[in-house]
Amino acid sequence: MSSSNSETKSAGQIANVMNETRVFPPSGEFSAKAVIGSMQAYQTLYAESIADPVAFWERQAHEHLHWFEPFHTGLEWNEPFAKWFVGGKTNVSYNCLDAHVVAGRGDRVAFHWEGEPGDKRTITYAELLADVSKFASALKKLGIQKGDRVSIYMPMVPELPVAMLACARIGAIHSVIFGGFSAEAIADRNDDAQAKLIITADGGWRRGKVLPLKQTVDEALQKSPSIQHCIVLKRTENDVTMKPGRDLWWHELVADAPTHFPAEPLDSEDSLFILYTSGSTGRPKGIRHTTAGYNLYAKRTFQWVFDYREEDIFWCTADCGWITGHSYIVYGPLAAGATQVLYEGAPNAPAEDRFWDIIERYRVTILYTAPTAIRTFIKWGDHHVEKHDLSSLRLLGSVGEGINPEAWMWYYEKIGGGRCPIVDTWWQTETGGIMMSPLPGAIPCKPGSCTMPMPGIIPRIVHADLSDVGTNEGGMLCIEKPWPGMLRGIWGNDDRYRDGYYGKVPHMYLTGDNARRDEDGYYWIMGRIDDVINVSGHRLSTIEIESALVSHPSVAEAAAVGRPDELKGQGIAVFVTLKNHNPSDNMRDELKKHVRKEIGALAVPDEVRFTTALPKTRSGKIMRRLLRDIAAGKESGQDTSTLEDFSVLARLRSDEES
Ligand code: WT7
Repeated sequence: MSSSNSETKSAGQIANVMNETRVFPPSGEFSAKAVIGSMQAYQTLYAESIADPVAFWERQAHEHLHWFEPFHTGLEWNEPFAKWFVGGKTNVSYNCLDAHVVAGRGDRVAFHWEGEPGDKRTITYAELLADVSKFASALKKLGIQKGDRVSIYMPMVPELPVAMLACARIGAIHSVIFGGFSAEAIADRNDDAQAKLIITADGGWRRGKVLPLKQTVDEALQKSPSIQHCIVLKRTENDVTMKPGRDLWWHELVADAPTHFPAEPLDSEDSLFILYTSGSTGRPKGIRHTTAGYNLYAKRTFQWVFDYREEDIFWCTADCGWITGHSYIVYGPLAAGATQVLYEGAPNAPAEDRFWDIIERYRVTILYTAPTAIRTFIKWGDHHVEKHDLSSLRLLGSVGEGINPEAWMWYYEKIGGGRCPIVDTWWQTETGGIMMSPLPGAIPCKPGSCTMPMPGIIPRIVHADLSDVGTNEGGMLCIEKPWPGMLRGIWGNDDRYRDGYYGKVPHMYLTGDNARRDEDGYYWIMGRIDDVINVSGHRLSTIEIESALVSHPSVAEAAAVGRPDELKGQGIAVFVTLKNHNPSDNMRDELKKHVRKEIGALAVPDEVRFTTALPKTRSGKIMRRLLRDIAAGKESGQDTSTLEDFSVLARLRSDEES
């Protein structure tokens, strides 16, 4: 039971977690009440699930979704294309709302919402159903049909889940765009999806300021010919320009809409949403999820991993603009009838104890947040935490990147008071829901490990030559069989889907992550195989950042790499060659601003280095591993024999950012 402190100093490094040997089993009290309360119970369930995964998921689907018409086939697998619960008709918004109201649970609170300025709303399932029905009927009236794409660019107000569920109710496909993305990024996504409608707000509150969402949308719409209408929610009451004929106020649309609007029976495989994420090449890809399988997987993993019970108050701090918000604010918890906290703003508004204040006031029992947030809280200091009574908490969760053991221990002791298991949940936009995580009443935690697979999920780790790795050997993490929550493809690009996920390793889903499995069967994620950077738990591709830089008129060539960052997990360093080789004083700032404009604040480089040339192989491929070492300030022990111009490396080293 020891861990070397010196080795756990910096965040997000593989070597740290390799030495972690501590094990934290759940307390007897926790296990006694848990949905799955022992290792043996987990193993029995898991064994049953993988003996015949399709039969297992068929049973789950019968029991846990409402069917307007039953399905006739559990799975049709035409690799790499999956169809789950074929022939069945259901509706995700029905499963999330009507099902509870019909069962007499309409008075249960769905959301305790709190705006950043402190305004509050409590919304029951019956009220949420009425709001969703009204908005769904308004969308229909506006001419939105089943299969139409609808972009959503909103702050974290109740109307954001309402908009998503209203789309789901009528079979429109939503594409939620995180509120931090730029006008360019919105326009790209509108265009790729050929969205007909965009839903936004006048603004949202962030650290006491108004995020001018509508203004950003106006700019995006200059380049979004497919968009016919823009619905605007009044939130911050700041001045906005409404374009006659195109722009419509939310409150006017729903003013006389009926509170009863039936959910349309939809095919199991009708698309539910598209969510854009970065890959290692090209533009962001629209990950497509469908109706029944996704909803079932989000619901069941929510119930298993968060050990959800009637009396729990669940708080997932993610934004609905990411997959975590889709699956563990909207579709999983609502399908399970959970009561949640929803918070609009920043964790340090008005002060650094906002989260702990919220937990104390709402008696939150389960908190689900990200390592980058945890590291920030550590930096802000324990006194913010110690001011509050966090004794309501019984379970903690982590998502977005690996959690380094130091942050794990702090989370466990300072937030969890040493009594709450931590579920370190590994999954992806593509997987739709959690793939590996402790089941908290059953699987003892090891700090830094996502532990074991969900029922029905069969992970496999292989070498580059496709042979299986041995115990504790790192390799490419794959998933053996289709599962209901998996992506059904990339919007408009079947080839990219096939090549990216089912091309390299035959007959298995390639996750893009490296992993190892230890002697106890625990999985340890070791980071990405490809050139994807994980900044604060969010994916960015080096190519995207490079394309943004190269679109600046002064830039000849650019290379972006990740570098260790204590708070964000990874930061972004870029190496830039200029056309005139002569950086002006404000060029660094100008390039940072340019990237912000092209992609958004999330992608702004932490460091910009100018160089006269980039290190390349003879075939012209940028040698990123060298640049990564330089950016990390490490001496490179890497083989440089394929470097085209050795002097380039020496020049880059001496050219530190001033
Ligand atoms: C990538 C997926 C899943 C929702 C948020 C991110 C990394 C995610 C963990 C974890 C280690 C993790 C992986 C994965 N990742 N969770 N618990 N431990 N790594 O979704 O943007 O689709 O990114 O995030 O590298 O492949 P995403």
